[in-house]
Amino acid sequence: MRLATALRWIIFGMSLLPFIVLTLGAVNNSLGPDPADTLIQETGEWTFRFLLLSLSITPLRNLGAGPRVFPYRRTFGLFALFYASLHFLIYLLFLLQLRWSEISEDILERPYITVGFTAYLILVLLGVTSVKRMMRRLGRYWKPLHKLVYLVNILALIHLSWILRTDLTEAVIYASILLPLLAYRVYKYYIGKTSRQFHSSTSS
Ligand code: HEM
Repeated sequence: MRLATALRWIIFGMSLLPFIVLTLGAVNNSLGPDPADTLIQETGEWTFRFLLLSLSITPLRNLGAGPRVFPYRRTFGLFALFYASLHFLIYLLFLLQLRWSEISEDILERPYITVGFTAYLILVLLGVTSVKRMMRRLGRYWKPLHKLVYLVNILALIHLSWILRTDLTEAVIYASILLPLLAYRVYKYYIGKTSRQFHSSTSS
């Protein structure tokens, strides 16, 4: 097996590890006094971690890791969607206890749920449009659409800060990773814009 293929499988397996650990914990009843709470917190944390991992691939590639890391951007993005779907499912099953009539009320009246749900809907849209066929269909619209992942990360940070309320240590840790990753995009955008202006002024 080629090294790149082996590495892909290792990363895939490691990304599934939190799911396996949580499932075993649920089966063995070792998730603490409030298993539903542990499950919703852990799946939320892993969603955010995979979102950040996905966002860090482009800077890594540009800073020397090369094109071979690029496929992981999609892999980590899809794992973020996977953990977000589990997070939402746990919310529906254990917190809402499938009281469907209360969903819209909860989404509209609890701001942190509104924000989390919006982030999840965008993430679903990005997941659905990440397959090759959709990429071809969307053509030049695909790239701007997928820039919505920045919004998903910002909404995730708001969602988390809203939940934590007073002790914001965790949110500060996530923000200290997210903000440089977003600042990198802003920097690249302005560098690109300046160089385009320079080329158009020298060629005219
Ligand atoms: C991209 C989407 C989302 C991300 C990244 C995310 C992230 C998180 C994180 C990190 C936590 C743990 C907070 C802690 O440490 O206590 C959390 C908790 C929670 N999330 Fe989300 N979430 C998302 C979407 C959603 C959605 C769609 C819902 C429900 C509609 C939701 C409902 C909750 C609830 C109920 C909690 C537990 C709140 C508590 O402990 O009081 N989240 N989320």
